[in-house]
Amino acid sequence: MKGIILAGGAGSRMYPISQLYSKQLTLIYDKPLIYYPVSILMLGGIKDILIISNEETIPFYKKLFGDGSGLGLKIEYALQSAPNGIAESFILGADFIGKDGATLILGDNIFYGKLDFFLKALERTRGATVFGYRVTDPERYGIVEFDVSGKAISIEEKPSKPKSDYAVPGLYVYDNSVVEISKNLKPSPRGELEITDVNMEYLKRGELNVEIISRGVAWLDTGTPESLLQASNFFGAIEDRQGLKVACLEEIALHMDFIGMKEFENVISDMPKCAYREYLQKIFTDRNK
Ligand code: DAU
Repeated sequence: MKGIILAGGAGSRMYPISQLYSKQLTLIYDKPLIYYPVSILMLGGIKDILIISNEETIPFYKKLFGDGSGLGLKIEYALQSAPNGIAESFILGADFIGKDGATLILGDNIFYGKLDFFLKALERTRGATVFGYRVTDPERYGIVEFDVSGKAISIEEKPSKPKSDYAVPGLYVYDNSVVEISKNLKPSPRGELEITDVNMEYLKRGELNVEIISRGVAWLDTGTPESLLQASNFFGAIEDRQGLKVACLEEIALHMDFIGMKEFENVISDMPKCAYREYLQKIFTDRNK
């Protein structure tokens, strides 16, 4: 399974910072927003990752992650010259995906909690899995409609009259057909290759699974300055209370056995003296006890 992170976009709601780079670099409490989606792919055991973004932002991602080897990953980069739609990811990423399946996560989507829903989806070898998450503002998302038996029957992008309160978060698990499906899409009236049209095609083929994410999991929105602040406060509270970091990529790489203790030590030694380094140093010392 290959992983793709779409982390570009116009980001006009984040002006003035959007003049410099995409919002996925903004700080959520103590680390850049993009660390959170990267952590989800890593926790799913995905090591081959393509980061798609714009010309301004790619150099920053390269500076953050390089080729990914420090984290035991293989990270590649692809340019999206304009925000032509989420489904363009699979056209830009076709060579990277090759004959594999592809999991796409939007660079501004944060999940926190037990990831069973995702791990279960990764076990499927055929079709697509998207998720349903209850929200209070369904007109802002792709919305899935269910029949009385609970079977998904439609997905609509930002409907003015939503048929349910279940939004489809920006995490999608596909088999290899996603490449061919995306290549055959026509742009929507707003001029984008819509991810909802990809999901509708899988639904038409009888190959779309929709898993409901339970209320114990947090799916956080980061579309506005207010929601970014909320997310920072959320993770600040959790990290402060537990003394454990969320989405600390070096810690996850060690936990997932993507790197060993020697590599972990090397990564730490390259960091400046700071709280983040101290946290990792403590993990190193505790493991050596
Ligand atoms: O967050 C979940 C929602 O994401 C889904 O429920 C919707 O079905 C899906 O269309 C999407 O809606 P958004 O309104 O959040 O999409 P937005 O255009 O804001 O793009 C999401 C992120 O992807 C954003 O950080 C920018 C980035 N992006 C977007 C597009 C369209 C790109 O990098 N390139 C693009 O071409």
